Amino acid sequence: MIRVGIAGTGFMGWIHYLAYQKVKGVKLAAVADPIKKRLEGDWRDIKGNFGPPGEMIDLSGVATYSDYNDMFADPNVDMVDICLPPSMHANAAVAASKAGKHVLCEKPMAMTTADCRRMVDAAGRAGKQLCIGHVLTFLPEYAQVIKLVETGKYGKLLGGTFKRVISDPLWLKDFYEPNGCGGPMLDLHIHDAHLIRVLFGMPVAVSSRGRMRGEVVEYFNSFFHFDDPRIVVSAVSGVINQQGRPFTHGFEIHFEKATLLYELAVIGDGVEVQPLRILTSTGKVLTPKLGDGDMPPAFAREIKEVVRSVNANEPSPLLSGDLARDAIILGHKQTESVKKGKVVKI
Ligand SMILES: NC(=O)c1ccc[n+]([C@@H]2O[C@H](COP(=O)([O-])OP(=O)(O)OC[C@H]3O[C@@H](n4cnc5c(N)ncnc54)[C@H](O)[C@@H]3O)[C@@H](O)[C@H]2O)c1
Repeated sequence: MIRVGIAGTGFMGWIHYLAYQKVKGVKLAAVADPIKKRLEGDWRDIKGNFGPPGEMIDLSGVATYSDYNDMFADPNVDMVDICLPPSMHANAAVAASKAGKHVLCEKPMAMTTADCRRMVDAAGRAGKQLCIGHVLTFLPEYAQVIKLVETGKYGKLLGGTFKRVISDPLWLKDFYEPNGCGGPMLDLHIHDAHLIRVLFGMPVAVSSRGRMRGEVVEYFNSFFHFDDPRIVVSAVSGVINQQGRPFTHGFEIHFEKATLLYELAVIGDGVEVQPLRILTSTGKVLTPKLGDGDMPPAFAREIKEVVRSVNANEPSPLLSGDLARDAIILGHKQTESVKKGKVVKI
């Protein structure tokens, strides 16, 4: 049984808490947060942009800490789950690894490439796992893509275009701060940068065009270059300055023998979905039956993979620190490409 301590009992701490109730082989042993009422189990003021609102939580038998360092020293904690604001991830993850804990850390891994390397190194030295919570590949449409790559059913991957565009997230005060949330590149597009890294390997260069807002890129288009010129991969992401589209994501992915299409858009008060379609080379249009598309079950599937990785003490092929570090490297190279107006080698 893996005993987990959650650092940061905000929106993600709550969503992870719900996931732990659904996954075997792991149990909540501790929580850390400077907010006193959260340590008393009053999580009712938590409300995110998906999942149920927070509730009163029974924390009997769960150790509570106002300082996460005290939780890292708790011998009854095997794994630390970092659900802190992004700028705190690196120092907390390194401290948890040094304390001999496995680490699960929410995305984005960290704000700088150097911090990502520190996190990977600390986990390596401790001989413990470092997983980064890139939940995207546990959503049914994206999981289906991973499965089709693994089975090779439609041949090799030839490329794809990935989309993740939102209206201005006015409630996130430090969204455009390079050392706060890191802007759309690190907070939003990082999901697709990570997916591209998982699907295609590390690009050799990137070229991006975009609009800046202060020091971060507000909206951009990127091409990812690979040694094989037949691999054509691009992504569009960022913020539009109209408030009518809180969220959009989707893709068009090309295999040798099929094209996959998918898009989900929240527009106004409604949700518009183009379900996952598979256009085959024999002219068929298939609409595969997929599992539960809600976000909380996707987090439960993510945690299940973390439990598998920790028990095997081997890096997860979807959630490893190495992959998430590479996604952060890509994000910074894309920003550099926008700023310099030229192709940037990786
Ligand atoms: N995977 C996803 O889909 C997804 C969605 C939303 C957020 N996130 C990520 O999750 C992370 C957390 O975001 P959030 O929305 O939960 O933020 P949040 O502000 O709701 O929660 C952060 C929590 O950390 C606590 N905290 C701050 N300083 C602390 C300290 N020193 N010790 C212990 N706790 C401390 C705060 O009190 C708060 O409860 C971010 O990295 C964010 O990007 C991921």
